[in-house]
Amino acid sequence: MQLRELPIPDSFVLPELVEKQEEPYFEGAANPQKTHRRYEAMVALHETSLHIIAQLDTYELLDTLMERGALLLNAQASTMFLFERTTQTIHNVANYNNWCDWANITLRPGDGIIGQVILTGKPIIMNDYSPLLHISDAPLLPELTRKMGAPLRWQNQIIGGVIMTRDFQSQPFDDEDLWLLGQFADLASIAVKNAILFSQVKQCSAELEQKVDARTLDLSRAKEEIAAQAEQLRSLLAKTIHIQEEERSRIARDIHDGALQLINAVRYQIQAAELVARQDLTAAAQDKLLAARESLDEIEEELRDAIGNLRPLSLDLKGLGPTVRGYVSRFQQLCGIDCTFEISGAPMQMPLNLQACIYRIVQEALSNVTEHAQATAASVVFDYQPSMIWITVDDNGSGIDAELCSREVRPNGNHFGLLSMRERAKSLGGDMDVESTPGCGTRLRFWFPINCGESE
Ligand SMILES: Nc1ncnc2c1ncn2[C@@H]1O[C@H](COP(=O)(O)OP(=O)(O)OP(=O)(O)O)[C@@H](O)[C@H]1O
Ligand SMILES: [Mg+2]
Repeated sequence: MQLRELPIPDSFVLPELVEKQEEPYFEGAANPQKTHRRYEAMVALHETSLHIIAQLDTYELLDTLMERGALLLNAQASTMFLFERTTQTIHNVANYNNWCDWANITLRPGDGIIGQVILTGKPIIMNDYSPLLHISDAPLLPELTRKMGAPLRWQNQIIGGVIMTRDFQSQPFDDEDLWLLGQFADLASIAVKNAILFSQVKQCSAELEQKVDARTLDLSRAKEEIAAQAEQLRSLLAKTIHIQEEERSRIARDIHDGALQLINAVRYQIQAAELVARQDLTAAAQDKLLAARESLDEIEEELRDAIGNLRPLSLDLKGLGPTVRGYVSRFQQLCGIDCTFEISGAPMQMPLNLQACIYRIVQEALSNVTEHAQATAASVVFDYQPSMIWITVDDNGSGIDAELCSREVRPNGNHFGLLSMRERAKSLGGDMDVESTPGCGTRLRFWFPINCGESE
């Protein structure tokens, strides 16, 4: 529709305002035919006003409105124009039964009947339009040459005008027609204003929607970027954990194959020295050698403890359950916290890296209990379910801060224990959950899928 392509006029003002058209004298009582016509006109006007109220999208209304206007005034054609004050131009916006294409025609105040209506702000009848035929508002002229126009007003400003056209065979327009056109123009003004407001609202909401869409896009891009960075960090951490484990194993092996073998060699050398010296050894020298042997035993024990912490060799030798049981019992002795270890369900074979991961998690969780919980009791439970293992570490201590309990545990300053436990779990397809009530202890739960086909 033509109106949609037109710019919305920002304001329509002519400095000189016109008085309202007086109601003409009707010979209603004496002329029943005219009374009937006026009655019909009032009904049609009423219907028109109802139509305007009922329509929301008034763009569609304007053409229909012009058709109603033409029927109301027994005109063959009708046209509506808007006046744009900033450019002082007049544009066609709606038509009924028009024979000429107004799309590219721009008029100015004073041009043709519509230009006169807008310039003077007064309704005009021209029952013989031929003297004005040279004017640009009648580019193609058929025999329709009776014209009548009235201004459209909004809040005392001229915003445009409507023109009704009849052919020469029809009745000339008269004062009664002019009065009716004035009434119709008042209704049409409301419709036009509605159309403009509606268009502005639509434009604003379209712009708003565009902005919301753009912002939503920005946000989702930022979210994707953050997610990608988080994923990168996660895989970096998983790699770091893996490298750390490998490094620990290497150091454990080095100590085992290097320092422990040297200790054994020193033991043999002491023994050999004793054999060589035999009776020549004084009691004092024998005491010294005994003390040297005991020191070697102590060094060996400490080194074996260090190896155990670096790489629990008993995982390879005894498996996860017995290794954790041993660790829990040492923990109990060293820390003085009553700690139990239970297994429910049928233990399953697990790959060695999963066993090492679970062992480290238990170590880290119990180390937190000693460092932070002020607990008197703790427990570790392994629950084997089909294709899953659940690990629960409980304590009856002070509980963890609510923020640290949230699912996405973030590193807090230099505190990486909870984060690294979660990342360890995630790196093997599992996850971690923290439950804690201040003053009533903490429960850490981990779960891992177990692929029964995989061997240790
Ligand atoms: N079992 C627990 N009971 C009470 N508070 C705990 C417990 N476990 C952790 N916390 C609290 O959560 C914080 C974070 O623990 P996390 O293991 O992440 O770091 P950390 O132990 O302080 O340092 P890191 O483990 O890096 O050496 C701790 O500082 C402590 O306040
Ligand atoms: Mg910790």
